[in-house]
Amino acid sequence: MYTPSENRYQAMQYRRCGKSGVMLPLISLGLWHNFGSITPLATQQAMLRTAFDHGITHFDLANNYGPPYGEAERNFGRLMDADWRTHRDELFISTKAGYDMWSGPYGDHGSRKYLISSLDQSLKRMRLEYVDLFYHHRPDPDTPIEETMGALDQIVRSGKALYVGISNYGPEQAEAAIRELRRLGTPCLIHQPRYSMLDRHIENGLTDVLCREGVGCIVFQPLAGGLLTGKYLDGIPEDSRMKTDSRYLKPSSLTDDTLRRVRALKAIADARGQKLHHMALQWVLREETVTSALIGASRPEQITDNLEILNAPPLTEEELRKIEEALK
Ligand SMILES: NC(=O)c1ccc[n+]([C@@H]2O[C@H](COP(=O)([O-])OP(=O)(O)OC[C@H]3O[C@@H](n4cnc5c(N)ncnc54)[C@H](OP(=O)(O)O)[C@@H]3O)[C@@H](O)[C@H]2O)c1
Repeated sequence: MYTPSENRYQAMQYRRCGKSGVMLPLISLGLWHNFGSITPLATQQAMLRTAFDHGITHFDLANNYGPPYGEAERNFGRLMDADWRTHRDELFISTKAGYDMWSGPYGDHGSRKYLISSLDQSLKRMRLEYVDLFYHHRPDPDTPIEETMGALDQIVRSGKALYVGISNYGPEQAEAAIRELRRLGTPCLIHQPRYSMLDRHIENGLTDVLCREGVGCIVFQPLAGGLLTGKYLDGIPEDSRMKTDSRYLKPSSLTDDTLRRVRALKAIADARGQKLHHMALQWVLREETVTSALIGASRPEQITDNLEILNAPPLTEEELRKIEEALK
């Protein structure tokens, strides 16, 4: 029987998600890696408990997180039954559809057919009556935005999700989706783009759109899958993602240019008396435009380690300038 820490809300900071009523923790936990069939359920359980014990209320999933596809939601459902039933209202749970999930023409992209049946499947796997947030996972240029956003609107009206969001949309696509949702009477809560010191594409207009429209922003891969911990500076450790599950983080990403930047960033973090990954998390959160940093973890200690940023001094103007230099 799991009893969450009584102090769980004391240290965490929460930010308002755009112009909504929702507050999200500065650090949220994603279940993309390490919640499928490869990782023991006990480790998954320990990670979720550690997160919640420290005020991480937001867990992010998608239909195809695994491996195999669906397994992260299935494991989350098992753990939901074991640990979370009496705490459901303290959790903010998201899932998504938009990438390939099942074979045939209806298990991918952005049709009403796909999104609604995928969420029905996700709810069964997670043993939930509703999710707090449902995303369209990536833009689909071949489906009219009215159909995709119409499906999100219908999902909220049917009570299967409380809020909806979009992920991986560019600035113009995001603006069109946000406006269509507003027209339908279901505001877009949040956008989920990739953002880290090694991938700054959202600075080219997307954050301006989100600020203007009052939409929140939760950024995924703030540690670039682990590159921004500095763990790959002297080779590939045996217990790292690149060794144990390199589906998406391949040794080819260790280019001279990336390693040069990471080294330069580490020197700045060292001078601050801080770990590089702490500086990387503080950097994505340096402006309130970003509501939450969506991290992954392979063990509970990484979660508590990352939460050390809650007590770290903010980055100074001079340090921010040095980071800009290092990223050139
Ligand atoms: N919307 C989308 O299209 C999309 C795409 C990708 C991800 N996401 C979301 O973003 C979440 C996070 O993605 P991510 O896991 O790639 O993010 P990340 O936070 O950039 O990388 C997480 C990895 O970094 C390492 N790490 C984290 N904290 C550490 C620490 N304190 N010390 C040492 N190593 C540490 C661990 O890898 P090791 O295995 O090396 O320990 C961990 O699995 C996903 O779970 C998912 O929810 C969304």
